[in-house]
Amino acid sequence: MDHTAPSTDVGTAYNMKPSTYDVSLTEVRRGTPMGELLRRYWHPVAKCEDATDTPKVITVLGEELILFRDKTGRPGLVYPRCAHRGTTLYYGKVEERGIRCCYHGWLFDVQGNCLEQPCEPGGGKNLERTRQPWYPVQEKYGLIFAYMGPPEKKPVLPLYENLEAVRSDEDIVAEQKAFAPGGPIIAPCNWLQYFENGVDVYHVYILHSNFSTVQFAEELASFPAVKWEYTPYGLQAIRDLPQKDGGTLRRITEFLGPVCRSIPDVFALPGPSERIEWILPVDDTHFTTFSAGRVPKGQDKIRTRKALHNGKLYDEMTEEEHQKYPNDYEAQVGQGPITFHSEEHLVTSDKGVGMYRRQLQNSLKAMAEGRDPDGVSFGNDMMVKVGAGNFFLNS
Ligand code: FES
Ligand SMILES: [Fe+2]
Repeated sequence: MDHTAPSTDVGTAYNMKPSTYDVSLTEVRRGTPMGELLRRYWHPVAKCEDATDTPKVITVLGEELILFRDKTGRPGLVYPRCAHRGTTLYYGKVEERGIRCCYHGWLFDVQGNCLEQPCEPGGGKNLERTRQPWYPVQEKYGLIFAYMGPPEKKPVLPLYENLEAVRSDEDIVAEQKAFAPGGPIIAPCNWLQYFENGVDVYHVYILHSNFSTVQFAEELASFPAVKWEYTPYGLQAIRDLPQKDGGTLRRITEFLGPVCRSIPDVFALPGPSERIEWILPVDDTHFTTFSAGRVPKGQDKIRTRKALHNGKLYDEMTEEEHQKYPNDYEAQVGQGPITFHSEEHLVTSDKGVGMYRRQLQNSLKAMAEGRDPDGVSFGNDMMVKVGAGNFFLNS
């Protein structure tokens, strides 16, 4: 008897092959393919208000770093272990000119320059020999962006057309969140499964519109006609949603780089998207997101879902409610810390996921061949056009 022959009645799980994930697409530490690709872009690592005179530990792309703001107002992002004998600058004191280590008082500025060594003869005669490892930062849209790649490859910080078009009755607000109001700000799964969800438009029809009742606007709940198109920066998912009045809602979500995207308002607010979101891989199995959006003056938050089910936040829902009314958190964290690509069966409706992965693979290939990845500019300003939005077309 051939024991390997397919059978319909004896179970199939025993014969499963070991589960694996695509390391090159998911892991983000320095020296990994994706880690090096992502280090060629600027990433928001905190809101401006998070950099204060109290040092803060943040983890970015698997690296633990210290964020602070010196008393002249300059933000700094430095390696935590003091260049003298390695205690953490988390216990440092922020001063006018930088951060002073608690152990022997060495003072470093926001670029890691050593300014004082108080126990050394004459206050330190060879200060320039020591430099605390540091990363460059820039403040924009209420966020602190860091560049953590090779210094000679530092691109310009991109600007976004929709965030630059601020009217006199509007402000820009910045936010950090994961994906469930009331849930953790840092979510426990790999960044890629969150990012891919943005191009996985059919899940809106099932998860958000049928399985768990209508979680977004009714206008988004019909079965879409979808196409995906590459753009100079990434990828657009264009879906036409039939409306009750016979018209069509054309909803365009847009990827603007390997971890940047614009998802229009889920309450079907008409018009071009007024926000940009950046996914920040914290490490291989955690991510957070930063957003910047235009809002009416006086509004301190981007318009977003306030509750997930029956007026409840994520952490107010019972286990039974999480099972009966799952949302993005359950679906994506439910894929595991890093989803197993070896177990997937990608089909026609996953075309966008496939296109996005191909785009990442092309960038990885470019890097491996010594070329620059897409979407980086070393020249003057880089202004990114944003096509995302909810556009109501008449019947
Ligand atoms: S360990 Fe920081 S000054 Fe000595
Ligand atoms: Fe979703």
